[in-house]
Amino acid sequence: MPPTTTPWWRSAVIYQVYIRSFADGNGDGVGDIAGIRSRLPYLKSLGVDALWINPWYTSPQADHGYDVADYREIDPLFGTVAEAEQLIEEAHAHGIRIIPDIVPNHSSDQAAWFQQALTAGPGSPERERYVFRAGRGPDGSLPPNDWDSRFGGPAWTRVPDGEWYLHLFTPQQPDLNWQHPEVHAEFESVLRFWFDRGVDGFRIDVAHGLVKDPELPDLADRDGGAHPFWDRDEVHEIYRSWRKLADEYPGDRSFVAEAWTDTPERLAAYVREDGLHTAFNFDFLMTDWDAKDLRAVIDDTLAMLGTVGAPATWVMSNHDVMRHASRYGRRAAKKWLANESYVPASPADLELGTRRARAAALLTLALPGGAYVYQGEELGLPEIEDLPEAVLQDPVWERSGHTERGRDGCRVPIPWSGTTTPYGFSAADATASPWLPQPADWAPRTVAAQTGDPASMLELYRTALRIRREHPALGDGTLTWLDDTPAGVLAFRREPGFICVVNLSTEPYQLPAHASILLTSGPVEDNRLAPDQAVWLTV
Ligand code: NOJ
Repeated sequence: MPPTTTPWWRSAVIYQVYIRSFADGNGDGVGDIAGIRSRLPYLKSLGVDALWINPWYTSPQADHGYDVADYREIDPLFGTVAEAEQLIEEAHAHGIRIIPDIVPNHSSDQAAWFQQALTAGPGSPERERYVFRAGRGPDGSLPPNDWDSRFGGPAWTRVPDGEWYLHLFTPQQPDLNWQHPEVHAEFESVLRFWFDRGVDGFRIDVAHGLVKDPELPDLADRDGGAHPFWDRDEVHEIYRSWRKLADEYPGDRSFVAEAWTDTPERLAAYVREDGLHTAFNFDFLMTDWDAKDLRAVIDDTLAMLGTVGAPATWVMSNHDVMRHASRYGRRAAKKWLANESYVPASPADLELGTRRARAAALLTLALPGGAYVYQGEELGLPEIEDLPEAVLQDPVWERSGHTERGRDGCRVPIPWSGTTTPYGFSAADATASPWLPQPADWAPRTVAAQTGDPASMLELYRTALRIRREHPALGDGTLTWLDDTPAGVLAFRREPGFICVVNLSTEPYQLPAHASILLTSGPVEDNRLAPDQAVWLTV
């Protein structure tokens, strides 16, 4: 893609394609590259700037692609490298950039390197590429330390020769050893492989986890110093090197980090001038529907990223968290969002959640910086919380001993058209059903049903994205709060001549003086903004 005057990633709206659930081109019930290619006109008409595509590489799918066996091949489930190249070319022709996921913290246990490490045995150079250690206890039958896997159970698995290997996620996802030069060289070569094929950047999985304390100390012994595996300062050296590599390529290639940090200061360290370009703003995603909390997170984000000159990103949903229409329909959602527990505490009020999701879309898309849209949020899809246990596939379900249902509820295949499953996700004559069952009541949620209906979520997103593209005040830049609003009302101005007002209170709010209403999340009468509604004004 040709360079732009301001780098595109400072203000881009990036649409997340969870590939296995987006569109199924070959009728096997699983989304694929052919499906994405067939939906490019839709994405163009929606008005997004880029697609982040979840891992499409060869993978046994133990964690739905986040267990990569070959970083230079596309999984046959999704297509071929040639099809990926066609997708990149066609997307570019539509003015849409492509950002695949890269998974550098761990590979699949089926990756050639890991298989070689298993065969080569203890003490071999092959084992050095991963984190193998002897166990503790007289016969080495205890794990080397007390670290737990993110998906439940110990972070160590013992192999038949008695050694243990580290996996911060499932046992099928062995952690790579980023103290090893070959690991650095391999990933730089993989980045080049895909940059050479025209991708516009990468989303970096677990960007904060690559470097471990070489001593592998017990977490119980942590005395307040650096965490032994999360967000260690040494990771930034890796990204400085990746940045240089990306900068060798024309057209503003860019990275977005999935980095969970304790503070906005720590997050800003990822996006310094010589580091990555952007990072997901999970603090925003984790904030409940509360004016004071949202304003604080917006202020902290902008202040902190301002110190390093990086743009903010605004994200409400992704493939790992409860969809926000359901989240905002609950009182307290935070526990879910920290990935601590996927068990809902109370049923969602979906009418309320949807009203708030509409208002939240206007808030998010008016804030300075870039924004992410997770596939289906533009259709107002809720979390599917009643998937039968027998169909659950997220490793979290098994690893938690069936105490946490996992993330399948936000990954249900997208409804495109028609009145019954597969709702156009697969062709009607497909040989297989969608890999997760779709609800029976999704007919009104399809793209076809919502298209042209001015009251639909889809048309709200389309209009908002069009205005965002056309209005000089939106995208990258700054905001000024209007401070004469009551508690519970967020209002800010962007120049030239734009105001966003969001009413999170329980009372209607009389709008400030304005020239015209550009867009509202719901009907506005007598200039009164109802609770849980938002409006864009020109002044
Ligand atoms: C974060 C990804 O978003 C998630 O889906 C995955 O399970 C873990 N990283 C492990 O790769």
